[in-house]
Amino acid sequence: MSLRIPLAGVIGNPIGHSKSPRMHGHWLARQGIAGHYIPMEVEPADLASVLETLPRAGFAGVNVTIPHKEAALAGARRATPRARAIGAANTLTFLPGGGYEADNTDGYGFHANLAGAAEGWQAQDGPVAVFGAGGAARAILHAMLEAGAPEIRLMNRTRARAEGLATAFGPRVRVLDWGETDAALKDAATVVNTTSLGMAGQPAFDLDLSAMRPGMLATDIVYTPLETPFLQAAARRGAQVVDGLGMLLWQGVPGFNRWFGGDAQVTADLRALMLAP
Ligand code: ATR
Repeated sequence: MSLRIPLAGVIGNPIGHSKSPRMHGHWLARQGIAGHYIPMEVEPADLASVLETLPRAGFAGVNVTIPHKEAALAGARRATPRARAIGAANTLTFLPGGGYEADNTDGYGFHANLAGAAEGWQAQDGPVAVFGAGGAARAILHAMLEAGAPEIRLMNRTRARAEGLATAFGPRVRVLDWGETDAALKDAATVVNTTSLGMAGQPAFDLDLSAMRPGMLATDIVYTPLETPFLQAAARRGAQVVDGLGMLLWQGVPGFNRWFGGDAQVTADLRALMLAP
């Protein structure tokens, strides 16, 4: 008889800064599961062969991060509708008989974080203003539209990228010019920064937020620092704020539960662990 130790991990390049091993390690310990979650630095040219080898080595699945998210979807035997709609994968589960199913839990993580942290908040509450139109915005738009957001007001420094998302996601997405914050924020219920502005080492978030009002919910995908200048400006104007750390935690939940058969919880002590140096 052989004892099978469940294995999973995260593939990226670079991978040294990934906080996923710490998070999954916490869940494994907390739930008394004798598994391992291993960070792996993989070159793009090696991704396909690594994904062929891992299930033979006993891996149940892996997270994939930059720069592999699109290639991982392209190489999948099956993909969930949300991974297809987002055009990228972050959660791969190996299938019996070879190959893997690709899923994308980023939008789920975004929505679950808001639903968990902001009591009474719903995507249907009103128009959603989104700053930025990169990969993260794509996942967030998909989740918010699925959850019933009536309108997305999207603005991006490079307007063509926002227009590409509007074409992909349909008429509920309205593109505004970068800086048109009064029009974006007017009667918005939810305001989201998906740009890297305000992240440690990046330029400051400098758009005018004077049209923010109490009753709006503001959230940022940046969580270094936790209280970004964008969230501080929103709080000064009376908005409810939810920081971006929870999105990272929640996006990990579906993979953990699938691979390890666990019941991962997003708790205050997990947050504290993730913020520790
Ligand atoms: P992610 O997957 O995190 O969304 P990304 O695809 O590189 O990363 O997108 C980064 C986002 O931050 C984009 O919306 C980008 O705007 P552009 O499409 O114009 O590049 C935005 N961004 C980054 N630096 C910016 C800056 N200095 N000013 C305004 N927007 C910026």
